[in-house]
Amino acid sequence: MDVFTAISQRRSVRAYKDTDIGEDELKRILEAARLSPSSSNRQEWKFIVVKNKETRKKLANAAFGQSFIGEAPVVLVACATESKAIMACGQPAYTVDVSIACAFMILQAYELGLGTCWIGAFKEDEVKEILKIPEHVRVVAMTPLGYPNQPLSQKSRKGLDQIVCFEKYE
Ligand SMILES: Cc1cc2nc3c(=O)[nH]c(=O)nc-3n(C[C@H](O)[C@H](O)[C@H](O)COP(=O)(O)O)c2cc1C
Repeated sequence: MDVFTAISQRRSVRAYKDTDIGEDELKRILEAARLSPSSSNRQEWKFIVVKNKETRKKLANAAFGQSFIGEAPVVLVACATESKAIMACGQPAYTVDVSIACAFMILQAYELGLGTCWIGAFKEDEVKEILKIPEHVRVVAMTPLGYPNQPLSQKSRKGLDQIVCFEKYE
């Protein structure tokens, strides 16, 4: 599968089969995160692989009861191990770095036939308590990971003419 096919066909998956993921597939997805670019190549991240059913359910509750999160055989929790660095452009590095790694994992998962759904709606303090995450570490995103149990629905996107301009901001 080429990159553009993955980008254009991937959709958020909110229903999962009760089928385990192979260790090779999981490792491949984690490798996609490991190989991602980061600000000054800092790699200040940690990815928690959660397979325990009870823990997955707790994470779903911490995500305002989005129960499909707990139904997937794996939940990936993406953390920043340092959150103070501000890039010269004024943006915090950690959200950018960890988000790129998550995006790469999501696309790699799609190539392997696995579904994901970026989860940004969660109570960080609860997630940290459930997973014993140290105080200074920030949780940037989570995603369930598993075989989709739903047809992928098409989501519309703005046209290029609406989001691109040339030479100056218009
Ligand atoms: C930063 C971010 C946070 C998101 N948080 C959630 C979430 O908490 N729950 C959810 O079901 N989807 C969440 N989504 C998925 C978006 O709703 C979804 O990507 C968007 O509607 C486009 O649909 P698609 O992913 O199927 O193309 C999130 C996506 C992003 C990028």
